[in-house]
Amino acid sequence: MSQITRRQFLRSAGGVTFLALTPIGSGLFAAAGTDLPKFTALPYIQPGNSSLLIDDRESIVVAWQTELKTAEFTFEYGATKSYGKKAQVTRSVRRQGTGDTNQCYNYAAELTSLKLSKQYYYRLASGGQTIAEGYFSTRKKRGEPVRFAAFGDNAHGDPGQRAIAYYTYQSKPDFIMNTGDNVYESGLDSEYIQYFYPIYNSDAADPAIGAPLLRSVPFYTVLANHDVPHKDALKNPAADFDEDPDSLGYYTAMHLPLNGPTAPTNPTAVLGNAGLINEFKTCAGDRFPTMANYSFDYGDVHFLCLDSNLYVDPTDAALQSWITSDLKGTDATWKIVVAHHPAFNVGHQHFKEQQFRVLCPLFESLGVDFVLYGHEHTYQRTMPLKFQPTDASKAPDVTPEDRRIPGAFTIDRSFDGKTNTKPNGIIHVTTGAGGKELYDPDFDNSPEKWLHKDDDNTAYVARFVSSAHSFTLFDVEASSLTMTQIDETGKEVDKIQVTKT
Ligand SMILES: [Fe+2]
Repeated sequence: MSQITRRQFLRSAGGVTFLALTPIGSGLFAAAGTDLPKFTALPYIQPGNSSLLIDDRESIVVAWQTELKTAEFTFEYGATKSYGKKAQVTRSVRRQGTGDTNQCYNYAAELTSLKLSKQYYYRLASGGQTIAEGYFSTRKKRGEPVRFAAFGDNAHGDPGQRAIAYYTYQSKPDFIMNTGDNVYESGLDSEYIQYFYPIYNSDAADPAIGAPLLRSVPFYTVLANHDVPHKDALKNPAADFDEDPDSLGYYTAMHLPLNGPTAPTNPTAVLGNAGLINEFKTCAGDRFPTMANYSFDYGDVHFLCLDSNLYVDPTDAALQSWITSDLKGTDATWKIVVAHHPAFNVGHQHFKEQQFRVLCPLFESLGVDFVLYGHEHTYQRTMPLKFQPTDASKAPDVTPEDRRIPGAFTIDRSFDGKTNTKPNGIIHVTTGAGGKELYDPDFDNSPEKWLHKDDDNTAYVARFVSSAHSFTLFDVEASSLTMTQIDETGKEVDKIQVTKT
């Protein structure tokens, strides 16, 4: 580092090639010699409201946050560094913790009418001074190779989170798909500031620090249990604004596709002070509660991202109808579902939260290839399987954590991902080892522990890694998909290939 300038380093690191903002402690950044507000989040790339792949109609959101002090920003973008287009910048007030004055501004620049599969440059400026310059790439078209990284249960500032951020960055993904419990302990805006932006958008790329991912790489996530950590009077999970005035950072920090049901049957419940809830809803706008479920395409992959929290009834007819029309409506070669609570998981912590098993026959009939989960802080890959529930009576009961769904397994034991690359059934992958402390460290290489009498001791897990944090890298082409699990030292710990003819 001492031999190169900071600017040269950032150029080599990718993403932002110039950043006038320097860290001044406590998660704040300032532009020296100006009276600009201090930044609580550096510019970060969000997917925005893009679902179908339509050339010239692609959009991206670049967001940032500052202390509650007014400033005028201009945001330019274009296919070259002469930019040429100005984005509309919106600003809203957002709570950043407890206390009446603990507020900030959330900014979002929406970049529209973009081409697919193209690199764009951006510049954020204020009063004629450049604050940040960077670049990003839009989504790949059909037929183009895609690389994405998946991990969950991650941001709490731990060494494992930082190492996974670094090795994810080293793998140069097109985007990140987070499998939920993105920010601990309670999905608060103040926790995003403490544990999310500084590590996934750090200036330095270092396994002990993190990496400058968010400034150039879109980050998708799903709603999970740590986003709704309180209880209502009926003991259903809820976000309580009396307990945490900056609850539900998911709906304000993230800008994800808005093609899910606008009025879900079981929306994320909010409780507490009406003024705080109103402030949250004003900031979230039409993202709340629509953004609980969404779908999008990327290259030859269709992703369906679902809220799997305990308050969701997966037998709900409206939800199943939307899932069916979404999965039927795509002509993508590959279909991947993402939800936080694993339907098939042999770990100790959350074995009984099996409510999403009732959706498996639907997923199987509609050609889903993979379902990705988090929740268990381990890596688990099942053999390809089909599942028919025999007693789904606990699935709609939205209060208890005992949502066991017994049923009949049909397991493809001949698939090995090497010589036989054509699975007969869905491969379920729990990739919840993204940073928080690991579960079941004694389960590594102990297949005898991966059996449950509730499942008639059926062996359905092919690989289980809990001795190290890890993330999942997918390389997807039109007729071939490679999935690689990489641990917190950069070592490959699992690899399979799936092919289609
Ligand atoms: Fe979880």
